[in-house]
Amino acid sequence: MMRHRFNPYSQKSMKYVFGNWKMNGIHEEAVALAKAVGTTKPQKYTQVAIFPPFINLHLVKKALSRSSIALGAQDCSPEENGAFTGDISAGMLKDAGCKYVLVGHSERRTLHGESDETVRNKAIAAIKARLVPVICVGENLAERESGKYLQVITRQVEQSVPSLTNPSSYLIAYEPVWAIGSGKTPILAEISEAHKTIASLLYHDTSKADKKTAILYGGSVKANNACEIMATEGVDGVLVGGASLKADEFGKIIEAAGSI
Ligand code: 13P
Repeated sequence: MMRHRFNPYSQKSMKYVFGNWKMNGIHEEAVALAKAVGTTKPQKYTQVAIFPPFINLHLVKKALSRSSIALGAQDCSPEENGAFTGDISAGMLKDAGCKYVLVGHSERRTLHGESDETVRNKAIAAIKARLVPVICVGENLAERESGKYLQVITRQVEQSVPSLTNPSSYLIAYEPVWAIGSGKTPILAEISEAHKTIASLLYHDTSKADKKTAILYGGSVKANNACEIMATEGVDGVLVGGASLKADEFGKIIEAAGSI
């Protein structure tokens, strides 16, 4: 009998569909939305996670208890504990049932002045707490228009990603700031260019398909463009904002991931 050797490259690769709710939803709305999203049945190679505001993490966790959908938080402190009023540690998020945490989202970088160093320290704190940080990078409109966007992305990756990290212990989200909430998306070739640049800067163990860092795209992802974006070379999934607040639209994006 002929034996087939296990070939990691023949495996279908995982697609990630992450919903960042940002600062939206009081308790009742969060539970209703989580329950509705929880009724979707993601395909085997689709990892879905939702990222509600901190205050709703417990309720959303409960609402998702019968589903395969994971929980994430939108930020964490770089510190373990202590006198840091208003902050939430990565360990607390782990304890609340989170698997993922966003760090360095552009709204944190711009509205809260977070530097690459702060983002890196948050990613380190997350990994220490056995969470998977989703490290966000992306250029603003002026940087895109000046033609310096690849330099900006390169600097952000080099300075925000902890060095010597296991490539599958974190994810990257490429979110061009000008595409967030604007209804504008880069053309697919531009997404691919940015993703390839990011991938070239990361450590990959090319002998194992599962030893690579997944790179998600975010910025005006909707049900009608999710499929072509996720099918673009170098794109391992999407980080969705506004469209993740509508269960039917988010459900269609989850379906699209399963069809690729
Ligand atoms: P939108 O999908 O609303 O553009 O937001 C993207 C985003 O910031 C996800 O983190």
